[in-house]
Amino acid sequence: MRSMQWRLLSMLCCVIALAWCISLSMSVTYLIVGPDIGWRVELHAMGDALARHLPAAWFGSPGTARDAARPGLLPSRTQPAEIGAMLTAMLLNTVELVVMGLLLWRAVVTALRPLRSTSESLSSRRAFDLSPVPVEALPTELQPLLQSFNAMLVRLDSAMQMERQFIADAAHELRTPLAALHLQAEVALAAGTLQGKDQALGKLIDVSLRTHRLAEQLLDTARLEAGLHRCGREPLDLLVVCRMIIDDFWIQAARRDCRLDLDGSACLLTCDPDEIGILIRNLVDNAIRHGHVGGRVRLRCGYLRRGDLLHPMLEIEDDGPGVAAEERQAIFTRFHRAGGASGRGSGIGLSLVAAIAENHEATIETGCGPGWKGFRLRVVFPSQLGGQG
Ligand SMILES: Nc1ncnc2c1ncn2[C@@H]1O[C@H](COP(=O)(O)OP(=O)(O)OP(=O)(O)O)[C@@H](O)[C@H]1O
Ligand SMILES: [Mg+2]
Repeated sequence: MRSMQWRLLSMLCCVIALAWCISLSMSVTYLIVGPDIGWRVELHAMGDALARHLPAAWFGSPGTARDAARPGLLPSRTQPAEIGAMLTAMLLNTVELVVMGLLLWRAVVTALRPLRSTSESLSSRRAFDLSPVPVEALPTELQPLLQSFNAMLVRLDSAMQMERQFIADAAHELRTPLAALHLQAEVALAAGTLQGKDQALGKLIDVSLRTHRLAEQLLDTARLEAGLHRCGREPLDLLVVCRMIIDDFWIQAARRDCRLDLDGSACLLTCDPDEIGILIRNLVDNAIRHGHVGGRVRLRCGYLRRGDLLHPMLEIEDDGPGVAAEERQAIFTRFHRAGGASGRGSGIGLSLVAAIAENHEATIETGCGPGWKGFRLRVVFPSQLGGQG
């Protein structure tokens, strides 16, 4: 029997049955043998012995003849024999209660014994042992608690597996640029001419910039997963942020002879400014890097009407090679790089974008750029009360 409730109830039933058996057997023997039965004599003797230990003053003064004649009234003088009978009954009740208490205590202790062994096995576990706790031996009342705990262990285990996978992937991604850094440094050192050294040093700078960016993206990913960015939400004008970011990217755009435009109107969004900055930077970087040399990138922000609501929205499009429709889902997976992409990215940028959009309950829509060429990505945020016109 695994239920504590049933254990306690059955112990209680045992005690009641025992009390009834004793009372019944006493009554039956009284009826058969008569008043001179042994146990009755013994009980009387015990009652008398108990009453003798009480002070004589407790028995009061003798009652009047009138008191004795009135039926239904106790005589004012109490007989020692009656006190003795009461004391005997009290003693027997106490014994019965003690027996009942002991049995109930035993029922509780036996029911809770598996809990103690479970807690001992939990405290002696190794740090990363997330195997489920056996629940079968526990009382049924405690099983739901342990089942929820086991479900939490399963979630924790999968989160830790993802974390381990991330660390393994990150280490793998870092290894390549670090090896390239080493190689370029050796080439620069071995170059016989100044021109050769300059070339190798130029490549070394490129690789170190890529490594720097990768390290920053990995840190952003780790911070996002740990929820560290999620502390402060404040109202932000998307147009102002986009303008600042466009200013930061003009050198990179000029290197690829790319035209970078910004349209739109002031658009208020309550958001985490750091996260929104990361999101826009990654989208602009992708459009410049994966678009054509000499191409055009257009960033737009404003409100989008959906039904009766106005949603803050951010859209970026380029006229580059675009992303095939069947691959548009996969590019948001971490470390995924689409087949025909130019440039040497790590495949982290869009996974950051997806995580930030999710944190802001925003949806991401993808499609083709102008004239069915290139790539368009739109982030639609939930309608904001303050943003409706
Ligand atoms: N505007 C775009 N045009 C064409 N392909 C794109 C565009 N944006 C993203 N992609 C494709 O999606 C892939 C994933 O993009 P993501 O930003 O995650 O990684 P990345 O740009 O390769 O590297 P990084 O982590 O440095 O940003 C890219 O490798 C590229 O193939
Ligand atoms: Mg990118």
